[in-house]
Amino acid sequence: MENRIFNFNAGPAALPLAVLEEIKNDLISYKGEGLSVMEMSHRSKTFDAIIKEAEALAKEVLQIPAGYKVIFMQGGASLQFAAVPLNLLPDGGSADYISTGAWSKKAVAEAEKLGKSVNVIASSEDSNFSRIPGEFTINSDAAYLHITSNNTIFGTQWQEWPETGTVPLVCDMSSDIGCRKVDIGKFGLIYAGAQKNMGPSGVTIVIMREELMERSPANIPTMTSYKIIGGKDSLYNTPPTFAIYIVKLVLQWVKNMGGLEKIEQINREKARILYEAIDATGFYRGTVEKESRSLMNVPFRLPSEDLEKAFVEESTAAGMIGLKGHRSVGGIRASIYNAVPLEAVKTLAEFMRDFERKHG
Ligand SMILES: Cc1ncc(COP(=O)(O)O)c(C=O)c1O
Repeated sequence: MENRIFNFNAGPAALPLAVLEEIKNDLISYKGEGLSVMEMSHRSKTFDAIIKEAEALAKEVLQIPAGYKVIFMQGGASLQFAAVPLNLLPDGGSADYISTGAWSKKAVAEAEKLGKSVNVIASSEDSNFSRIPGEFTINSDAAYLHITSNNTIFGTQWQEWPETGTVPLVCDMSSDIGCRKVDIGKFGLIYAGAQKNMGPSGVTIVIMREELMERSPANIPTMTSYKIIGGKDSLYNTPPTFAIYIVKLVLQWVKNMGGLEKIEQINREKARILYEAIDATGFYRGTVEKESRSLMNVPFRLPSEDLEKAFVEESTAAGMIGLKGHRSVGGIRASIYNAVPLEAVKTLAEFMRDFERKHG
């Protein structure tokens, strides 16, 4: 591994080395065609094969049942905060949201900005978002229920999906898509910015029940319309071609690794090692209730801010980057997405023990 460091960034985040090597091999002349994927027409046969394979691999690897559409969109997960209510929340209706942190709040704020009626039926803000709310009642006439499966900043993750009956479950899965086996059939719509577990920034993956595409009103901006973008198989306009190509490679990598079952097993082992290091002596303090702990983002505190600063400095010097907590909450956060190897997590846990011996 030449010049590679252990990358715990929250997003954009680590990509599998095998994927980067394949990109490098094909960068200048894709499969001997004499041009890069970046330089190809999005209407070319070659790119058509790439986007179709990306969609087919998403269906296979993420175990998406029949009746769902995979759409590649732009504008990040943040555009989906608007696209979801624009498409699925008709005037006069209302939607339910469960708030588990900054990203859920942004989703609510964006819907409200559009003049939509939103009910926040549960929130864990009273405990500084240290848990996933357990008790809530879904309004039976809600257009949908929106949740954030994994809070990237606070490090909480839904362990069991809410039973929504006939109300479509909409989920921002940006920071944990593809980290574990998920029963996609429980969801009406899932969206995820690719830049954590699925590829580079610039493309957002939307997985939606096909019948929900019919809800898109005609008078919304074209680039937010699931009916139009999905109806054109993500080729209404120029899509983020290079990003889609990398998503395809990442999905192929997950498949080669043994699929979601194997990836989940490795992710659980990585998380176990890290949480064990946090809980070992009381020097480190996890900030999330145990039942809500995330497999992907692991936040923790040290006895003082000075020690946290030293931790970041010394870990960086030891070849580990991205461990500073989000600017809004401070502390330390290790993002251990699919492409972060077990070896990186073992190295971090060892570093934590050494740091404690030195400063504890
Ligand atoms: C859970 C979650 N939702 C939404 C976003 C915003 O994503 P984007 O930057 O793609 O708009 C992020 C970014 O980190 C996130 O973690």
